[in-house]
Amino acid sequence: MPVASKDKPSNYTSWAMSEIVRRFVQIILSWRLFSIPGINSIKIAILRLFFKIGKKTSILNGVYFESHHAIKKPLLIGKNVAISEKVIIDYTGGIEIGDEVWISPEALIYTHDHIALSRDLKRKQNIRHSSLTIGEDAWIGARAIILPSVRKIGRGAIIGAGSVVTQDVGDWEIVIGNPAKKIWERSEFKKTTLDNPPSQK
Ligand SMILES: CC(C)(COP(=O)(O)OP(=O)(O)OC[C@H]1O[C@@H](n2cnc3c(N)ncnc32)[C@H](O)[C@@H]1OP(=O)(O)O)[C@@H](O)C(=O)NCCC(=O)NCCS
Repeated sequence: MPVASKDKPSNYTSWAMSEIVRRFVQIILSWRLFSIPGINSIKIAILRLFFKIGKKTSILNGVYFESHHAIKKPLLIGKNVAISEKVIIDYTGGIEIGDEVWISPEALIYTHDHIALSRDLKRKQNIRHSSLTIGEDAWIGARAIILPSVRKIGRGAIIGAGSVVTQDVGDWEIVIGNPAKKIWERSEFKKTTLDNPPSQK
């Protein structure tokens, strides 16, 4: 179940200070210089001071990891993960990204939401947050949006470019559109080769 919270915890100041440092470092690291191969690995090494990031993972320019409220949840990124340019990952609710996951340019991943159902000022109402797991070898297409209502993107799942995902996605499912719906599943019997491109299915 998503968790609702409103009150600032007692450790708010220390959380705010560490979040400022995390974001400041990320702004420095989004300097294009850090996208040069080799120098990029220095960037990953620095990011590992703040987040658990597996071996051979690449994080391209303009990627931001942000926690929006003083809720200490982890961001765990597996091995051989590729996170492309300008991806924004909100890990307020906590995120675990499996090995071999790809996240294409400008995808947006949110794990917190504002409850603004009454006519009171929005800032006086609660937020809710929930954790998200992205399974091994999943692929989130360019400009896809993962909403905070999603708890799980299954192993090997594919989210089509520009899709808006509002619900959990099962293992191997390929989903597209807004709201994203399953079109088919990746199959162990189907091989994609240059002679048999996916569009000729
Ligand atoms: C989801 C995806 C993997 C599906 O690929 P595919 O299995 O080859 O699907 P097809 O191209 O055969 O398309 C099947 C149908 O879905 C539609 N479709 C495909 N991708 C779509 C998308 N992202 N949004 C909406 N509709 C989509 C097609 O128009 C087609 O519709 P039709 O049957 O009415 O003609 C692919 O379209 C996609 O979005 N890839 C991500 C691309 C990307 O982000 N690249 C960044 C590289 S870093």
